[in-house]
Amino acid sequence: MKLAVVGTGYVGLVTGVCLAEIGHQVTCIDIDEEKVEKMKKGIPPIYEEGLESLMKQNIQARRLFFSSKFEKGLEKADVIYLAVGTPQYPDGTTDLTAVESAAKSIAHHLVQDAIIVTKSTVPVGSNEYLKSFIHSHLKNDVSIEVVHNPEFLREGSAIHDTFHGDRIVIGAENKQAAAVIEQINQPLDLPLVVTDIKNAEMIKYASNAFLATKISFINEIANICEKIGANVEDVAYGMGLDKRIGHQFLKAGIGYGGSCFPKDTNALVHMAGGVDHDFELLKSVIRVNNQQQISLVQKAKQRLGSLEGKRVAVLGLAYKPGTDDMREAASIVVIHRLIEEGAEVTAYDPFAMENAAPILPQQVWFAKTAAEALHDAEVGFILTEWDQIKNLSLKDVKDLMKADPIIYDGRNCFQLDDVRQHLIEYHSVGRPSIAGDLRSN
Ligand code: UDX
Repeated sequence: MKLAVVGTGYVGLVTGVCLAEIGHQVTCIDIDEEKVEKMKKGIPPIYEEGLESLMKQNIQARRLFFSSKFEKGLEKADVIYLAVGTPQYPDGTTDLTAVESAAKSIAHHLVQDAIIVTKSTVPVGSNEYLKSFIHSHLKNDVSIEVVHNPEFLREGSAIHDTFHGDRIVIGAENKQAAAVIEQINQPLDLPLVVTDIKNAEMIKYASNAFLATKISFINEIANICEKIGANVEDVAYGMGLDKRIGHQFLKAGIGYGGSCFPKDTNALVHMAGGVDHDFELLKSVIRVNNQQQISLVQKAKQRLGSLEGKRVAVLGLAYKPGTDDMREAASIVVIHRLIEEGAEVTAYDPFAMENAAPILPQQVWFAKTAAEALHDAEVGFILTEWDQIKNLSLKDVKDLMKADPIIYDGRNCFQLDDVRQHLIEYHSVGRPSIAGDLRSN
């Protein structure tokens, strides 16, 4: 089958590469010519494990092509995937500008019948609107169908998730179009959910909102555990053994970030509001997450009285390990607060510093290594659980930092017993605090 993918962000590019890998001929279209030239050489514009080698293999096998021209990229394509970004407006509603612009370009250049498959996360009702939008912009006498095929990929393991996902959701009004998309995905051999478009749109939002709810729930349990002297890790383990609950997404921490959860939870609250439903539960999930992101700075301020002039090392900036993505990362909120409080911040991340620099306050210094960031710091904040950070020796941490260092670990990277041995004052999330070296107080 000949396929085209419009948009080469992480969803579009991963989709295109994986569809080529399972045997289809795929042309990925992007309006950014420079990006296209690089991709033709097998250089991906994003970091994603396994992507570069898979890209190169499929380019070599002449199954994967790139183009900046719609007329060329859409040539003879039976199916066109639409995978452009759907950011949020400041009020939380979804910005469909990129989707509309890509849809218009498809409509202008389409010279054959085609199925247009939307991958982008769009509010319920958008696909119906898109179908008539494309119809009204068609330049040739062709027929189109729209199918919604939402993605559930996690950044950092997007390739793995494509081949080992839990399900493929196909939302269509036209049975034949749905069957074509089923056939395309058949080599993946994953459970299929074939349903109507509205249900497919809602499955995506409800899934992300539910996972975000699990995180805010366990973060609230963690906050209570801290007050009563319990350990959230033991609590989450005991809960997760119940198969109805499961272990996943019960890791307490500094809150969720990234390109999906914050945006999609806000969008769903708005969507509900649009049909006169006050989504109280999801609003609380969002509030809990916002509070969670600032909780460690509040604790540090309470503990130290003031952060004015304190040397603070921030380890980990990306919203999660395995990616250089800074979108909605807790580190942005934490670092802005620290600077507002007058702290001197040195930051380190193994991958995300280039993306972080333009969005963090100018006063932030960037260190080349975790050790350099920790050198002479009085307080340390851990915000991303990179292996490079989890594997730090606590002895080195203590030796590098000023006397009587304090660590605020937003990702529970260290075992409490290990910390106790090194006499470091240590505060993590939902676990008892450790007092540090009492001899020197
Ligand atoms: C998420 C969804 O998992 C994916 O299905 C969807 O398509 C896009 O959004 P992603 O944002 O890449 O994927 O990352 P994910 O691994 O889900 O983590 C999201 C955030 O939640 C991160 O900030 C992570 O640190 C946080 N998280 C996750 C927790 O705080 N605790 C957990 O137990 C799990």
